[in-house]
Amino acid sequence: MSTAAAAFRRSARLSGIEVSLIVQISEKAREAKARGEPIIGLGTGEPDFHTPQHIKDAAAAAMAAGDTRYPPTAGTAALKAAVVEKFRRENDLVFTPDQILVSTGAKQVLFNAFFATLDPGDEVVIPAPYWTSYLDIVRVCDGVPVVVETSADDGFRITAEALRAAITPRTRWLLLNAPGNPSGATYTPEQLRAALAPLADHPAVWVLSDDIYEHIRFDGGPFVTTAACVPELRDRTLTLNGVSKAYAMTGWRIGYAAGPKPLIAAMTAAQGQSTSGACSIAQAAAVAALTGPQACVAEMVAVYRERRDLVCAALDAVPGLSCPPPGGAFYVFPSCAGLFGRRTPGGAVLTSAMDVATYLLEAAHVAVVPGEAFGAPEHFRISTASATADLQEACRRIAAACAALS
Ligand SMILES: Cc1ncc(COP(=O)(O)O)c(C=O)c1O
Repeated sequence: MSTAAAAFRRSARLSGIEVSLIVQISEKAREAKARGEPIIGLGTGEPDFHTPQHIKDAAAAAMAAGDTRYPPTAGTAALKAAVVEKFRRENDLVFTPDQILVSTGAKQVLFNAFFATLDPGDEVVIPAPYWTSYLDIVRVCDGVPVVVETSADDGFRITAEALRAAITPRTRWLLLNAPGNPSGATYTPEQLRAALAPLADHPAVWVLSDDIYEHIRFDGGPFVTTAACVPELRDRTLTLNGVSKAYAMTGWRIGYAAGPKPLIAAMTAAQGQSTSGACSIAQAAAVAALTGPQACVAEMVAVYRERRDLVCAALDAVPGLSCPPPGGAFYVFPSCAGLFGRRTPGGAVLTSAMDVATYLLEAAHVAVVPGEAFGAPEHFRISTASATADLQEACRRIAAACAALS
């Protein structure tokens, strides 16, 4: 080992932040593919569609027009105006441009929010199953994630009792995500109001509503977001959204949020010392996404729905799996608890979702994400933002691999 490498020391802040299980399983799948195995990767949550052409054209036009300078830290005037209009049109929420922050993906909005507000030991209540990154972002910002269990029987929704029990004097935030990754959980307005009722007694607790899957919904009900649904909480809610999922724009890295001015100002200060703002060309593309024709979103959602239906029907028919159709997002989240205790042809006994995911990768050449990554150890996640033919073949192989268990 070189002297420089020997002297390397990670900051205390980063200790314990390891490569996520999602990335680990993707790496395993990549290696197996490189060895020539016919792997179907259903691990990553990103649309398999191309970004719609009118959005790409807007980026090309911005580049050609010389829109290539440092943008304002909090976002271009054009994109902030488009975001204000999006919230008015789609969510019945009125904001002014100084209540908007544009960042390098929704992920950076989350980072800015926690970096700007958490002191060491401050707590963030996070319902499980959760998107894996939530915990690590909170930890990197010196906070403490407080995970609250939910149950499949409650549709993976947090209950008022569970929320009340999780709140302590150190609680700064409740982080909500609906439709949720990985469970697809959604709330009706009544369910959300009931779940959030305890916050009336805790005025120092803020709500971060991660609405990134807003448009990917199959339940037919209205979209429900805290600031609109529970107006009493509006002055302490940060509403997070972005273009990555709805417009197949994961690589453009544009997310945005709206909230009270002092919070947005603090998050803008954090962003000013990290990225200085999101890419100017990607912001021009996001303006086209939010203000242009919206039919492309509905077209993609119709395909996600077909895939959800075909995967849920196929997997629910497999003895040992249970796969009710989720209300939104582009994942299905079957329970594999019925496979625990069964034996693989190689003689191993399956005792966890991680065992099941490893078995499916080896025996069926299908990469899924074990629920341990999301705080839900009896489930695994399949991304339906994958080609329909791949999903059909994957289901066939999963069924065959499960049938080979004794
Ligand atoms: C629930 C949730 N929030 C936020 C993000 C991050 O979105 P972005 O790609 O805009 O950073 C993801 C991405 O997987 C997600 O699943």
